[in-house]
Amino acid sequence: MAIDGPAGAGKSTVAKQVAEKLGFLYIDTGAMYRALTQAALAREIDVKDEEALIQLLRNSNLELAPSSTGTTVYWDGEDITEDIRSNKVNQTVSLVSSYKQIRLYMMEKQQKLASEKNAVLDGRDIGTHVLPDADVKVFLTASVEERAKRRHTEQLNKGLTSNLEAIKRDIEKRDELDSNRAFAPLKQADDAEVLDTTCMDINQVTDAILDLVKEHSV
Ligand code: DC
Repeated sequence: MAIDGPAGAGKSTVAKQVAEKLGFLYIDTGAMYRALTQAALAREIDVKDEEALIQLLRNSNLELAPSSTGTTVYWDGEDITEDIRSNKVNQTVSLVSSYKQIRLYMMEKQQKLASEKNAVLDGRDIGTHVLPDADVKVFLTASVEERAKRRHTEQLNKGLTSNLEAIKRDIEKRDELDSNRAFAPLKQADDAEVLDTTCMDINQVTDAILDLVKEHSV
């Protein structure tokens, strides 16, 4: 199953819930690009140097392990789950994920994971490139104001400081970069069901997707 959409549309929460209800594996593909970004930043590797990034990726061990809160991310055995959500990673990940070589490497890994078990993958290019033959494709979207508000509330609930306007700018910038990169940009697949979640809560979105799954399996 493919769940794509722009930043902050609620993909990961929903994909995780849907996977749980169906007994499927949940694969957070954004976490993979975030992990590479974090590993490069931690090692002071120039994120403009595609070759250095691909070398780092090829010579390291990136693992995603399902956990009660979503996915635990390991880089060469080190748990970097928290680090990959930092502001610095947010601001750098679109550049790192724009390189074709890196995308091809990640795609192969994602396709292999999805071939081993029934899975729900969330990302930007799952329905268009990673799993073009997915049984169900969903494109989740919501107004940028609503997406920023959700992130803001999430940060505040975690006890962190948060600036709504800065989050909105960050989301707009990331959407623009993700939508306009040359290879496998953020794009709705022609055969995806579009769900505008601006006025829906998480459970409503999950139920709507489970209904779609039922329709497809009849
Ligand atoms: O879903 P997320 O916000 O964790 O994704 C982080 C970034 O990774 C996003 O800005 C673009 C990139 N990404 C991608 O290019 N392709 C994917 N399948 C998933 C994420």
